Amino acid sequence: MYTNADSIKELLNSTKFAENIICLGSVDSTNSYLKNSYDVKDGTVVISEQQTGGRGRRGKTFLSPIGGIYMSLLYNTTPDKFDPGKITSCVALSVCKAIESVTALEPKIKWVNDVFLGDKKVCGILCEAVNDSQNNLKSVIIGIGLNVDDVVLGADLDDIATNLEKETGANVSKNMLVAEILNNLEKDLYTTNTPSFIEQLRTRYFILGKKIKVTTVSESYFATAVDIDSSCRLIVKRGERNIVISSAEVSISQ
Ligand code: BTN
Repeated sequence: MYTNADSIKELLNSTKFAENIICLGSVDSTNSYLKNSYDVKDGTVVISEQQTGGRGRRGKTFLSPIGGIYMSLLYNTTPDKFDPGKITSCVALSVCKAIESVTALEPKIKWVNDVFLGDKKVCGILCEAVNDSQNNLKSVIIGIGLNVDDVVLGADLDDIATNLEKETGANVSKNMLVAEILNNLEKDLYTTNTPSFIEQLRTRYFILGKKIKVTTVSESYFATAVDIDSSCRLIVKRGERNIVISSAEVSISQ
């Protein structure tokens, strides 16, 4: 079942995201669509049935066949309003809570932008900053790619990715998922400075306490994931030292 703007609006408590919901059949990337559109209103949501040039973090491709939710929202903000470093974490939490309420599954987060079911990825998040002419943060484009229907992604990806239909054995409503994500986001974005926000993340970070491989732009090393701090940065123990990481790729080490 495809997404439908009117059906989503009926399920929304959110007013922020209710005004401009654009459902497309196909687009290169919903993030690029918002980035390249002139004069897009704050709170605009773009959803596409498929993407021909879906983008992931670190320049990777995000395979986006029909059967998933590929959505992006434009959120005008400034650093004094929201800590941009916490937005990705907040989106991951809002997506988890949406999956929990629509399916009763128990998703977990792989710091910082992946949502997992068991040991497989079900959702990826790509937040991109948009700056004004003075190079100050003006808005954030929040991109979410969620695997919903049980479609074949190909040998390499089927080993490491899953979808909601496979995990529940049932059809899952994309309209309900989109509406829940938007409802959660509108509330959760205002809670990122509270201890409860960090606590909700902590309970969903499955790497905490585990041996992980950390890959930064300059090096790779093994460490133990210890905790997250109040800015959602990952604290790892490398040898005898604790290191605080704001950006890196992490994976459970075998
Ligand atoms: C990742 O896993 O590295 C992040 C993937 C983010 C994919 C979403 S799908 C909607 C939006 N449009 C894109 O091109 N990317 C994001």
